[in-house]
Amino acid sequence: MKNYSIAIDGPAGAGKSTIAKLIAKKLGFIYIDTGAMYRAMGLYLSQNQISVEDEAQILDACKKVDISITFENEVQQVILNGENVTGMIRSPEASLMASNCSALKPIREKLVELQQKLAAKTSVVMDGRDIGTKVLPNANLKIYLTASSAVRAKRRYDEMVAGGQECDLVEIEAAIIDRDYRDMHRENSPLVQAEDAVLLDSSDMNIDEVVDQVIKMFQANIA
Ligand code: DC
Repeated sequence: MKNYSIAIDGPAGAGKSTIAKLIAKKLGFIYIDTGAMYRAMGLYLSQNQISVEDEAQILDACKKVDISITFENEVQQVILNGENVTGMIRSPEASLMASNCSALKPIREKLVELQQKLAAKTSVVMDGRDIGTKVLPNANLKIYLTASSAVRAKRRYDEMVAGGQECDLVEIEAAIIDRDYRDMHRENSPLVQAEDAVLLDSSDMNIDEVVDQVIKMFQANIA
């Protein structure tokens, strides 16, 4: 059977993973969260006190680190050198480490290769920052999903409050703006909209509207 792919890129908190998961479920594809791989890599560097400035140690880490993805009840699990680290990669510190280490060329080369191998095996909905531009340049559909920083911060704030975490909306928005800046201005594979990607601004759309629109576009593209 032919493998299909949908690439979803965009800034932090635009709703990529929520949308990508629902689309994958509806189409029977595998959802791959590539940010989780950068988060696992960042966790390894922090656990081993490796500075992102130390090129030799980063190259060594790329050789030693084994990141793999498995699925439990359709939920992606990230395995770092044999340990399931899924529960350890979502903290604000892990977000910062992921953003810092994702700027490094050897780390990007390693993870892009892994992502391409996964997509070669099966039909995927993959989300990240460089999926349409670098990882899956021939994806059947490319979406650039965004929303205003205020809307993205409010969504994250609501999630954290619902999870019983104390947080501050102004701080969350400042962290989002800061992370966007780093992701969009790094030298290696900065976050940009692929030329052939469809821009969707979800600020005033609900989840179902975005999912329906993406599925219609995908079906039209493969017809
Ligand atoms: O999507 P996320 O917030 O979990 O991603 C964590 C960090 O990893 C984010 O700062 C950007 C980076 N990232 C990347 O550079 N390329 C990807 N394909 C996915 C994530």
